[in-house]
Amino acid sequence: MTAPILRSLPDLRTMTAPWLRAGARIGVVPTMGALHDGHLSLVAAAKRDCDHVIVTIFVNPKQFNNPEDLANYPRTEDDDARKLARFEVDALWVPDCDQMYPGGFATNVSVSDLTDVMDGAHRPGHFDGVATVVTKLFTQTRATDAYFGEKDFQQLLVVRRLAADLDLGVTVHGCPTIRDIDGLALSSRNLLLSDRARTIAPRLHEEMEEIAKGLAHGEALAPLRERAVDRLLTAGFTKVDYLDLRSQSDLRSVTDTAQPARLFAAAYLAGVRLIDNIAV
Ligand code: PAF
Repeated sequence: MTAPILRSLPDLRTMTAPWLRAGARIGVVPTMGALHDGHLSLVAAAKRDCDHVIVTIFVNPKQFNNPEDLANYPRTEDDDARKLARFEVDALWVPDCDQMYPGGFATNVSVSDLTDVMDGAHRPGHFDGVATVVTKLFTQTRATDAYFGEKDFQQLLVVRRLAADLDLGVTVHGCPTIRDIDGLALSSRNLLLSDRARTIAPRLHEEMEEIAKGLAHGEALAPLRERAVDRLLTAGFTKVDYLDLRSQSDLRSVTDTAQPARLFAAAYLAGVRLIDNIAV
């Protein structure tokens, strides 16, 4: 059975009020729709842990720094509802823009430091948009638990930081990246790749694995990185925004793997920006 789709805050509050009174665990899976197996793995984790589960679908204009990217973002609500049916979640929370940001809305949630690098540096305003909407989604749904993919690892750290800093009482769970058989990290943006670009896209993950292997054999980061960027550009990627080795706890730049580190990448292929990260 497909879950009820709620679009107004009073309806959502009516649903959650008895859960709150009962002290239930309320799991939220925030999404922008175009659901894939990565999202569904978050829903499965929430269903495992929580008494009630709400999946949110809201394409958040505040986190798009490029209007074309916002216009092209895939919107597949009916399909999304069908994909969720087998999980028997309690509700889909699908507010529209007026519900989320009514006239006069003037509040911004901004997390510092973690957002100075990578997507924070390349997409001005992006993480303020994410932090603002996630804070609202948490308070709207009265979540006790929230589920995010490690594919957006910087986002995961930002959300953990804001949940702790603002005493939101939400436990933020990070779930492993789900990949296609050829290694490409699942992402709603993959739907925007042409057939040809889709065959090239897994190169991003392959090159990251090559760097990880080189580091494990004691090779220096800089030449490994340079070779990987060259090969990506030769393969058809048009721009590499970053290919960085960073501390997994605070995203400080590192040059070796003496401490838990991750390799992070963002690159453009046929106008689509792909991101990925792996533990090294
Ligand atoms: O990861 C996403 O899909 C979005 O950034 C999120 C967390 C739903 C906020 O809009």
